[in-house]
Amino acid sequence: MKLNIALLAGDGIGPEVVDQAVKVSDAIAAKYDHEITWKPALTGAAAIDAVGEPYPDETHEICASADAVLFGAIGHPRFDNDPSAKVRPEQGLLKMRQKLGLFANVRPTFTFPSLIDKSPLKRERIEGTDLIILRELTGGIYFGERGRKDDNHTAFDTMTYQRFEIERLAKKGFEMAMKRSKKLCCVDKANVLESSRLWRETVQAMEKDYPEVEVSYEFVDATAMRLIQWPKGYDVIITANLFGDILTDEASVISGSMGLMPSSSVGSKVSLYEPIHGSYPQAAGKDIANPLATVLSAAMLFEDLELTKEAEEIRRVVNKSLAEGIVTEDLAEGGKSYKTSEVGDWLAKNI
Ligand code: IPM
Ligand code: MG
Repeated sequence: MKLNIALLAGDGIGPEVVDQAVKVSDAIAAKYDHEITWKPALTGAAAIDAVGEPYPDETHEICASADAVLFGAIGHPRFDNDPSAKVRPEQGLLKMRQKLGLFANVRPTFTFPSLIDKSPLKRERIEGTDLIILRELTGGIYFGERGRKDDNHTAFDTMTYQRFEIERLAKKGFEMAMKRSKKLCCVDKANVLESSRLWRETVQAMEKDYPEVEVSYEFVDATAMRLIQWPKGYDVIITANLFGDILTDEASVISGSMGLMPSSSVGSKVSLYEPIHGSYPQAAGKDIANPLATVLSAAMLFEDLELTKEAEEIRRVVNKSLAEGIVTEDLAEGGKSYKTSEVGDWLAKNI
Protein backbone atom coordinates (compact mmCIF):
# COMPACT_ATOMS: atom_id res chain seq x y z
CA MET A 1 0.00 0.00 0.00
CA LYS A 2 1.17 3.55 -0.69
CA LEU A 3 0.68 5.84 2.27
CA ASN A 4 1.01 9.59 2.65
CA ILE A 5 1.32 10.45 6.30
CA ALA A 6 1.44 14.01 7.61
CA LEU A 7 4.03 14.23 10.35
CA LEU A 8 3.39 16.87 12.99
CA ALA A 9 6.13 16.55 15.58
CA GLY A 10 5.13 19.70 17.50
CA ASP A 11 6.75 20.78 20.74
CA GLY A 12 8.74 19.50 23.71
CA ILE A 13 9.35 15.77 23.46
CA GLY A 14 7.11 15.59 20.36
CA PRO A 15 9.96 15.41 17.80
CA GLU A 16 11.84 12.72 19.76
CA VAL A 17 8.90 10.38 20.27
CA VAL A 18 7.60 10.89 16.74
CA ASP A 19 11.04 9.94 15.38
CA GLN A 20 10.75 6.53 17.03
CA ALA A 21 7.26 5.95 15.63
CA VAL A 22 8.66 6.79 12.19
CA LYS A 23 11.48 4.26 12.59
CA VAL A 24 9.03 1.59 13.65
CA SER A 25 6.56 2.40 10.86
CA ASP A 26 9.35 2.37 8.27
CA ALA A 27 10.44 -1.04 9.54
CA ILE A 28 6.87 -2.27 9.19
CA ALA A 29 6.64 -0.80 5.69
CA ALA A 30 9.85 -2.57 4.67
CA LYS A 31 8.67 -5.88 6.07
CA TYR A 32 5.13 -5.81 4.67
CA ASP A 33 5.93 -4.07 1.43
CA HIS A 34 4.29 -0.69 1.91
CA GLU A 35 5.57 2.67 0.80
CA ILE A 36 5.25 5.49 3.30
CA THR A 37 5.84 9.10 2.31
CA TRP A 38 6.18 11.29 5.40
CA LYS A 39 5.07 14.89 5.00
CA PRO A 40 6.50 16.96 7.86
CA ALA A 41 4.58 20.10 8.84
CA LEU A 42 4.81 22.76 11.54
CA THR A 43 2.51 23.02 14.52
CA GLY A 44 2.41 24.38 18.09
CA ALA A 45 5.02 26.70 19.59
CA ALA A 46 7.43 25.62 16.85
CA ALA A 47 4.97 26.99 14.26
CA ILE A 48 4.38 30.19 16.25
CA ASP A 49 8.13 30.81 16.26
CA ALA A 50 8.47 30.12 12.56
CA VAL A 51 5.35 31.71 11.06
CA GLY A 52 3.44 33.37 13.91
CA GLU A 53 0.59 30.93 14.30
CA PRO A 54 0.22 27.44 15.76
CA TYR A 55 -1.69 25.71 12.94
CA PRO A 56 -0.72 27.42 9.66
CA ASP A 57 -2.85 26.95 6.53
CA GLU A 58 0.02 25.13 4.88
CA THR A 59 -0.01 22.55 7.68
CA HIS A 60 -3.77 22.15 7.28
CA GLU A 61 -3.39 21.52 3.55
CA ILE A 62 -0.81 18.82 4.24
CA CYS A 63 -3.04 17.15 6.86
CA ALA A 64 -6.26 17.40 4.85
CA SER A 65 -4.70 15.74 1.83
CA ALA A 66 -2.88 12.98 3.76
CA ASP A 67 -4.09 9.41 4.42
CA ALA A 68 -3.46 9.95 8.13
CA VAL A 69 -1.77 12.35 10.52
CA LEU A 70 0.83 11.33 13.10
CA PHE A 71 1.12 13.90 15.82
CA GLY A 72 3.60 14.37 18.70
CA ALA A 73 2.69 16.95 21.31
CA ILE A 74 1.91 20.60 21.70
CA GLY A 75 2.61 23.19 24.40
CA HIS A 76 5.43 25.28 25.82
CA PRO A 77 5.99 26.58 29.38
CA ARG A 78 6.73 30.03 28.03
CA PHE A 79 3.01 30.32 27.24
CA ASP A 80 1.68 28.43 30.29
CA ASN A 81 3.05 31.06 32.61
CA ASP A 82 1.75 33.95 30.57
CA PRO A 83 -2.07 34.03 30.82
CA SER A 84 -2.14 37.15 28.66
CA ALA A 85 -0.47 35.53 25.63
CA LYS A 86 -2.63 36.22 22.58
CA VAL A 87 -1.43 33.27 20.55
CA ARG A 88 -1.02 29.92 22.33
CA PRO A 89 0.28 26.59 21.00
CA GLU A 90 -2.83 24.74 22.26
CA GLN A 91 -4.99 26.88 19.99
CA GLY A 92 -3.27 25.09 17.14
CA LEU A 93 -4.40 21.71 18.41
CA LEU A 94 -7.98 22.89 18.86
CA LYS A 95 -8.04 24.52 15.44
CA MET A 96 -6.64 21.38 13.88
CA ARG A 97 -9.25 19.17 15.57
CA GLN A 98 -11.98 21.49 14.43
CA LYS A 99 -10.79 22.08 10.86
CA LEU A 100 -10.17 18.39 10.27
CA GLY A 101 -13.56 17.56 11.81
CA LEU A 102 -12.05 15.17 14.36
CA PHE A 103 -15.10 14.91 16.59
CA ALA A 104 -14.31 11.59 18.27
CA ASN A 105 -11.20 10.92 20.32
CA VAL A 106 -10.59 7.25 20.96
CA ARG A 107 -8.49 6.67 24.08
CA PRO A 108 -8.03 3.03 25.03
CA THR A 109 -6.80 1.96 28.45
CA PHE A 110 -5.26 -1.46 28.86
CA THR A 111 -2.58 -3.10 30.92
CA PHE A 112 0.71 -4.67 29.89
CA PRO A 113 1.39 -8.03 31.54
CA SER A 114 4.97 -7.13 32.42
CA LEU A 115 4.02 -3.77 33.93
CA ILE A 116 1.07 -4.64 36.16
CA ASP A 117 3.13 -4.14 39.30
CA LYS A 118 4.36 -0.71 38.13
CA SER A 119 0.87 0.73 38.48
CA PRO A 120 0.20 2.51 41.76
CA LEU A 121 -3.05 0.52 41.82
CA LYS A 122 -3.26 -3.02 43.11
CA ARG A 123 -2.79 -5.86 40.64
CA GLU A 124 -6.15 -7.50 41.39
CA ARG A 125 -8.00 -4.29 40.63
CA ILE A 126 -6.42 -3.58 37.27
CA GLU A 127 -5.29 -6.86 35.71
CA GLY A 128 -7.34 -7.43 32.58
CA THR A 129 -8.54 -3.82 32.22
CA ASP A 130 -9.56 -3.14 28.64
CA LEU A 131 -11.69 -0.08 28.16
CA ILE A 132 -12.10 2.75 25.71
CA ILE A 133 -12.95 6.32 26.54
CA LEU A 134 -14.58 7.95 23.57
CA ARG A 135 -14.22 11.65 24.15
CA GLU A 136 -16.18 14.25 22.19
CA LEU A 137 -13.47 16.48 20.71
CA THR A 138 -14.84 19.41 18.73
CA GLY A 139 -17.56 20.79 20.98
CA GLY A 140 -18.51 21.55 24.56
CA ILE A 141 -16.71 23.98 26.82
CA TYR A 142 -13.55 23.86 24.69
CA PHE A 143 -15.36 25.61 21.88
CA GLY A 144 -18.24 27.47 23.58
CA GLU A 145 -18.50 31.18 24.01
CA ARG A 146 -15.95 32.57 26.44
CA GLY A 147 -14.79 35.94 27.60
CA ARG A 148 -14.46 38.55 30.27
CA LYS A 149 -16.96 41.11 31.49
CA ASP A 150 -17.64 43.49 34.39
CA ASP A 151 -14.50 45.43 33.74
CA ASN A 152 -12.45 42.26 33.71
CA HIS A 153 -13.75 41.09 37.10
CA THR A 154 -15.76 38.17 35.63
CA ALA A 155 -14.70 35.43 33.23
CA PHE A 156 -16.91 32.78 31.62
CA ASP A 157 -16.69 29.67 29.45
CA THR A 158 -19.80 28.02 28.06
CA MET A 159 -20.57 24.34 27.65
CA THR A 160 -22.85 24.06 24.63
CA TYR A 161 -23.88 20.85 22.87
CA GLN A 162 -26.15 20.34 19.91
CA ARG A 163 -28.08 17.11 19.50
CA PHE A 164 -26.24 16.14 16.30
CA GLU A 165 -22.87 16.42 18.02
CA ILE A 166 -23.97 14.02 20.73
CA GLU A 167 -25.63 11.66 18.24
CA ARG A 168 -22.58 11.23 15.99
CA LEU A 169 -20.30 10.58 18.95
CA ALA A 170 -22.79 8.21 20.60
CA LYS A 171 -23.24 6.36 17.29
CA LYS A 172 -19.51 5.61 17.25
CA GLY A 173 -19.79 4.51 20.88
CA PHE A 174 -22.67 2.10 20.17
CA GLU A 175 -20.85 0.70 17.13
CA MET A 176 -17.69 0.18 19.14
CA ALA A 177 -19.62 -1.49 21.95
CA MET A 178 -21.24 -3.85 19.42
CA LYS A 179 -17.78 -5.04 18.38
CA ARG A 180 -16.63 -5.45 21.97
CA SER A 181 -18.49 -6.61 25.05
CA LYS A 182 -21.69 -4.67 24.23
CA LYS A 183 -21.52 -2.37 27.22
CA LEU A 184 -21.75 1.38 26.88
CA CYS A 185 -21.57 3.92 29.69
CA CYS A 186 -22.61 7.52 29.12
CA VAL A 187 -20.76 9.77 31.56
CA ASP A 188 -22.15 13.22 32.24
CA LYS A 189 -23.23 15.59 34.98
CA ALA A 190 -26.96 15.46 34.28
CA ASN A 191 -27.85 16.15 37.90
CA VAL A 192 -26.58 19.70 37.42
CA LEU A 193 -25.91 20.60 33.77
CA GLU A 194 -28.53 21.17 31.08
CA SER A 195 -26.11 20.14 28.32
CA SER A 196 -25.63 16.83 30.15
CA ARG A 197 -29.40 16.32 30.26
CA LEU A 198 -29.41 16.70 26.48
CA TRP A 199 -26.66 14.05 26.31
CA ARG A 200 -28.71 11.64 28.40
CA GLU A 201 -31.93 12.29 26.51
CA THR A 202 -30.17 11.84 23.15
CA VAL A 203 -28.39 8.63 24.12
CA GLN A 204 -31.56 7.19 25.68
CA ALA A 205 -33.42 7.80 22.43
CA MET A 206 -30.73 5.85 20.52
CA GLU A 207 -30.89 2.78 22.76
CA LYS A 208 -33.71 1.21 20.74
CA ASP A 209 -31.47 1.10 17.64
CA TYR A 210 -28.94 -1.05 19.49
CA PRO A 211 -31.07 -3.48 21.53
CA GLU A 212 -28.08 -5.72 22.25
CA VAL A 213 -26.05 -2.99 23.92
CA GLU A 214 -26.44 -2.63 27.66
CA VAL A 215 -26.34 1.11 28.37
CA SER A 216 -25.61 2.69 31.73
CA TYR A 217 -25.48 6.32 32.80
CA GLU A 218 -23.14 7.76 35.40
CA PHE A 219 -22.21 11.12 36.81
CA VAL A 220 -18.64 12.09 36.04
CA ASP A 221 -17.63 12.56 39.67
CA ALA A 222 -18.70 8.98 40.45
CA THR A 223 -16.88 7.72 37.35
CA ALA A 224 -13.69 9.47 38.45
CA MET A 225 -13.83 7.32 41.56
CA ARG A 226 -14.98 4.01 40.04
CA LEU A 227 -12.55 4.20 37.17
CA ILE A 228 -9.58 3.59 39.44
CA GLN A 229 -11.51 1.54 41.97
CA TRP A 230 -12.77 -1.05 39.49
CA PRO A 231 -11.78 -0.25 35.88
CA LYS A 232 -12.85 -3.70 34.73
CA GLY A 233 -16.44 -2.55 35.22
CA TYR A 234 -16.17 -0.44 32.05
CA ASP A 235 -16.00 -1.24 28.37
CA VAL A 236 -16.87 1.77 26.20
CA ILE A 237 -17.38 5.16 27.87
CA ILE A 238 -18.78 8.10 25.93
CA THR A 239 -18.39 11.55 27.35
CA ALA A 240 -18.10 15.28 26.69
CA ASN A 241 -14.85 17.00 25.76
CA LEU A 242 -13.76 18.32 29.17
CA PHE A 243 -14.87 15.24 31.13
CA GLY A 244 -12.99 13.04 28.68
CA ASP A 245 -9.87 15.15 28.98
CA ILE A 246 -9.82 14.66 32.74
CA LEU A 247 -10.87 11.00 32.83
CA THR A 248 -8.28 9.93 30.25
CA ASP A 249 -5.37 11.38 32.21
CA GLU A 250 -6.75 9.58 35.24
CA ALA A 251 -7.15 6.32 33.32
CA SER A 252 -3.55 6.41 32.10
CA VAL A 253 -2.41 5.70 35.66
CA ILE A 254 -3.94 2.23 35.37
CA SER A 255 -1.43 1.16 32.73
CA GLY A 256 1.56 2.28 34.80
CA SER A 257 2.78 5.29 32.85
CA MET A 258 1.27 8.11 30.87
CA GLY A 259 4.01 7.43 28.36
CA LEU A 260 2.20 4.30 27.22
CA MET A 261 -1.24 5.34 26.14
CA PRO A 262 -2.02 5.98 22.47
CA SER A 263 -5.06 7.63 20.90
CA SER A 264 -6.77 8.29 17.64
CA SER A 265 -9.01 11.19 16.69
CA VAL A 266 -11.50 10.44 13.99
CA GLY A 267 -14.16 12.25 12.04
CA SER A 268 -15.49 11.82 8.58
CA LYS A 269 -12.25 12.44 6.69
CA VAL A 270 -8.62 11.99 7.69
CA SER A 271 -7.79 10.61 11.16
CA LEU A 272 -5.07 11.71 13.53
CA TYR A 273 -2.93 9.57 15.85
CA GLU A 274 -1.20 10.91 18.92
CA PRO A 275 0.03 9.89 22.36
CA ILE A 276 -2.25 11.13 25.14
CA HIS A 277 0.68 12.63 27.06
CA GLY A 278 1.68 16.22 26.54
CA SER A 279 4.88 17.96 25.52
CA TYR A 280 6.73 17.20 28.82
CA PRO A 281 9.07 20.20 28.41
CA GLN A 282 11.34 19.17 31.29
CA ALA A 283 12.47 16.18 29.24
CA ALA A 284 12.65 17.86 25.82
CA GLY A 285 15.88 17.24 23.94
CA LYS A 286 17.21 14.81 26.57
CA ASP A 287 16.39 11.60 24.72
CA ILE A 288 14.71 10.17 27.84
CA ALA A 289 10.97 10.34 27.05
CA ASN A 290 9.01 7.14 26.63
CA PRO A 291 8.21 6.74 22.92
CA LEU A 292 5.78 3.82 23.32
CA ALA A 293 2.55 5.85 23.40
CA THR A 294 3.46 7.32 20.02
CA VAL A 295 4.61 3.96 18.65
CA LEU A 296 1.30 2.44 19.79
CA SER A 297 -0.54 5.34 18.18
CA ALA A 298 1.12 4.31 14.91
CA ALA A 299 -0.26 0.81 15.55
CA MET A 300 -3.75 2.32 15.80
CA LEU A 301 -3.09 4.07 12.48
CA PHE A 302 -2.27 0.78 10.75
CA GLU A 303 -5.26 -0.91 12.40
CA ASP A 304 -7.66 1.76 11.10
CA LEU A 305 -6.27 1.26 7.60
CA GLU A 306 -7.16 -2.41 8.05
CA LEU A 307 -3.50 -3.36 8.16
CA THR A 308 -4.15 -5.62 11.13
CA LYS A 309 -1.05 -7.80 10.86
CA GLU A 310 1.11 -4.69 10.86
CA ALA A 311 -0.64 -3.28 13.93
CA GLU A 312 -0.30 -6.58 15.76
CA GLU A 313 3.39 -6.76 14.92
CA ILE A 314 3.95 -3.35 16.51
CA ARG A 315 2.09 -4.38 19.66
CA ARG A 316 4.02 -7.64 19.79
CA VAL A 317 7.38 -5.92 19.60
CA VAL A 318 6.33 -3.31 22.19
CA ASN A 319 5.31 -6.07 24.60
CA LYS A 320 8.59 -7.81 23.93
CA SER A 321 10.59 -4.67 24.73
CA LEU A 322 8.70 -4.27 28.00
CA ALA A 323 9.17 -7.90 28.94
CA GLU A 324 12.90 -7.70 28.20
CA GLY A 325 13.34 -4.43 30.08
CA ILE A 326 14.28 -2.32 27.05
CA VAL A 327 12.56 0.67 28.62
CA THR A 328 13.05 4.38 29.22
CA GLU A 329 13.73 5.65 32.72
CA ASP A 330 10.06 6.20 33.65
CA LEU A 331 9.64 2.42 33.65
CA ALA A 332 13.10 1.37 34.80
CA GLU A 333 12.53 1.89 38.55
CA GLY A 334 16.16 2.78 39.10
CA GLY A 335 17.35 -0.23 37.09
CA LYS A 336 18.95 -0.13 33.67
CA SER A 337 17.18 2.27 31.35
CA TYR A 338 17.51 3.06 27.67
CA LYS A 339 17.35 6.28 25.72
CA THR A 340 14.28 7.18 23.69
CA SER A 341 16.23 6.61 20.48
CA GLU A 342 17.64 3.29 21.70
CA VAL A 343 14.15 1.99 22.42
CA GLY A 344 13.09 3.05 18.91
CA ASP A 345 16.13 1.38 17.33
CA TRP A 346 15.49 -1.81 19.28
CA LEU A 347 11.83 -1.92 18.23
CA ALA A 348 12.69 -1.35 14.56
CA LYS A 349 15.39 -3.99 14.65
CA ASN A 350 13.04 -6.54 16.18
CA ILE A 351 10.40 -6.13 13.48
C1 IPM B 1 -5.27 16.44 25.47
C2 IPM B 1 -4.58 17.69 25.93
C3 IPM B 1 -5.19 18.90 25.20
C4 IPM B 1 -6.67 18.96 25.56
C5 IPM B 1 -4.49 20.23 25.51
C6 IPM B 1 -3.01 20.19 25.19
C7 IPM B 1 -5.17 21.38 24.80
O1 IPM B 1 -4.68 17.81 27.31
O2 IPM B 1 -5.21 16.15 24.24
O3 IPM B 1 -5.87 15.75 26.29
O4 IPM B 1 -7.03 19.51 26.61
O5 IPM B 1 -7.47 18.46 24.79
MG1 MG C 1 -5.57 16.14 28.27
